[in-house]
Amino acid sequence: MANKWTPQSWRSKPIIQVPQYPDETALKVVEDRLASYPPLVFAGEARDLKRQLADVAEGKAFLLQGGDCAESFAEHGADNIRDFFRVFLQMSVVLTYGAAKPVVKVGRIAGQFAKPRSSDTETKGEVTLPSYRGDIINGIEFDEASRLPDPERQIMAYRQSAATLNLIRAFAQGGYANLEHVHEWTLGFVKDSPQSARYQALADRLGETLRFMRAIGFSADAHPRLRETDFYTSHEALLLGYEEAMTRVDSTSGDYYTTSGHMVWIGDRTRQPDHAHVEYFRGIKNPIGLKCGPSMTADGLVELCKILNPENEAGRLTLICRFGHDKVEKHLPELIRAVEKEGIKVVWSCDPMHGNTISAGGFKTRPFDFVLAEVQSFFAVHRAEGTYPGGVHFEMTGKDVTECTGGAKAVTEEDLASRYHTHCDPRLNASQALELAFLIAELLEEGRDSDKGAIAATA
Ligand code: PEP
Ligand code: CO
Repeated sequence: MANKWTPQSWRSKPIIQVPQYPDETALKVVEDRLASYPPLVFAGEARDLKRQLADVAEGKAFLLQGGDCAESFAEHGADNIRDFFRVFLQMSVVLTYGAAKPVVKVGRIAGQFAKPRSSDTETKGEVTLPSYRGDIINGIEFDEASRLPDPERQIMAYRQSAATLNLIRAFAQGGYANLEHVHEWTLGFVKDSPQSARYQALADRLGETLRFMRAIGFSADAHPRLRETDFYTSHEALLLGYEEAMTRVDSTSGDYYTTSGHMVWIGDRTRQPDHAHVEYFRGIKNPIGLKCGPSMTADGLVELCKILNPENEAGRLTLICRFGHDKVEKHLPELIRAVEKEGIKVVWSCDPMHGNTISAGGFKTRPFDFVLAEVQSFFAVHRAEGTYPGGVHFEMTGKDVTECTGGAKAVTEEDLASRYHTHCDPRLNASQALELAFLIAELLEEGRDSDKGAIAATA
């Protein structure tokens, strides 16, 4: 691993989960074009996020990361982005109250296009075609032309990411996220749900606090923190040719960053220490995530931490745990102990989605109870080990979809067919996402006096 890193050095390593492009020359032309395009995010922003994640690692803040499993070209529109942003803001207000700490907001958005697949091919009846790998690579329709990887799609993904990011920046900084609008974020179809009433009560309390603050001279007009928010983007950096093209040297530090998003993560299937993805990630300075599934061993994790974060910088590495609700207790304690023993600084985050996918009535789904159980188990294990459960990672949408079963508005297996829109994995709908935020806020409240940050704050 001591070999010199370059943005291309991953190319000499073994790699899996990559598409077979039919025309290498056309691919190269696209990558060269992308390399000449403006960055989507700036290194300084990625550094700001890293600092905020360092606070999470130290128990002083909480990470909320979420969004689509796979963004799609067909569903790109202002309403979808706004609805996602609204429910995300609601969740973050709920969590801020629960944790009594800042919530670091990171979307799976504006770049979350490439998907790892369990099989290279998909068969329907007599026909076998390459698997769908995300809109940045090929089309979801089951025909030969759609499934052929097309490099031009990378340009489309870049442009969609730029447009999405532009709108998000406007929402985050242009007044939409103003805390004085906290009542207006509730989506119409969530209004008749139990958590909507709960949210309104919380928004009322917040409204009163803001009125009081205004009375003593702290208004949103004078204090940007009340009318703006920091919102960051993230995705799985799976398609390394695209990431390489988006990799730029930061002129202030001389370091390399991928400018495709603020934070990027390595998937559970592509984290082999001697493979291409780990090689690429070790050289970029963005904050990064590493998915940890049941096959992650304690020694394997320590080895990866040392490769990916040799300077043990807090905020650099977020371990996104996704074991399955009934496997957390088996796997998480030994990983925590190994990391603690080595004094490795990480953010521990819980992805309660990817280990809890089941099949029902011909659909991939995730029971809400399993999702909740995984989060509860994650918190319980951290409290038993004396470590800080620093964040959560969800697949969610602002839309009223029926993809995950359960929740207070009880989506049944029979309901799945009615609004199952995801391009890949089942997402929490807006009311399920908000309900989960309340349940996590309760867990955070329970730990307020005992969690690491609380102890550090009083020490
Ligand atoms: C994902 O986050 O969409 C994903 C594929 O996760 P994992 O790598 O954990 O399976
Ligand atoms: Co997914």
